[in-house]
Amino acid sequence: GAPVKVNVSKIEAGQQMVAEWRGQPVFIVRRTEEILANLTKIEGSVADPESAASVQPEYVDKKTRSIKPELLILVGLCTHLGCAPSFRPEVAPADLGPDWVGGYFCPCHGSRYDLAGRVYKAQPAPLNLPVPPHTYETDDVIIIG
Ligand code: FES
Repeated sequence: GAPVKVNVSKIEAGQQMVAEWRGQPVFIVRRTEEILANLTKIEGSVADPESAASVQPEYVDKKTRSIKPELLILVGLCTHLGCAPSFRPEVAPADLGPDWVGGYFCPCHGSRYDLAGRVYKAQPAPLNLPVPPHTYETDDVIIIG
């Protein structure tokens, strides 16, 4: 498949846009300082904190899983059986419980991921959401693929 060019300038803080690459959804999130701080706090709760077993390019930071901390880019397919996880950035919503700090929730069998796409421990999904290969053409334009 051909690389895809995406302009990310309109993504608001704490929100995501969905692009498409090779027929797959790609989630792009503009992370806030608060979201980034939470990633460190929940490190002990995720199954593969540095993505040793999960898919991500070697040039992304091991902790933030990104080139720029504020922009998270993920293939939006659950690593269990491939459903599309829902973007749930809110903190402690009634249906996800008081410990939820924002992330992705898979509606198919309930797998939970954080806002680095890292799967929590003891979920049906075995691995983190993949980070696709990508580069920056400019500050606002990403090439995926
Ligand atoms: Fe996501 Fe099963 S496909 S939990």
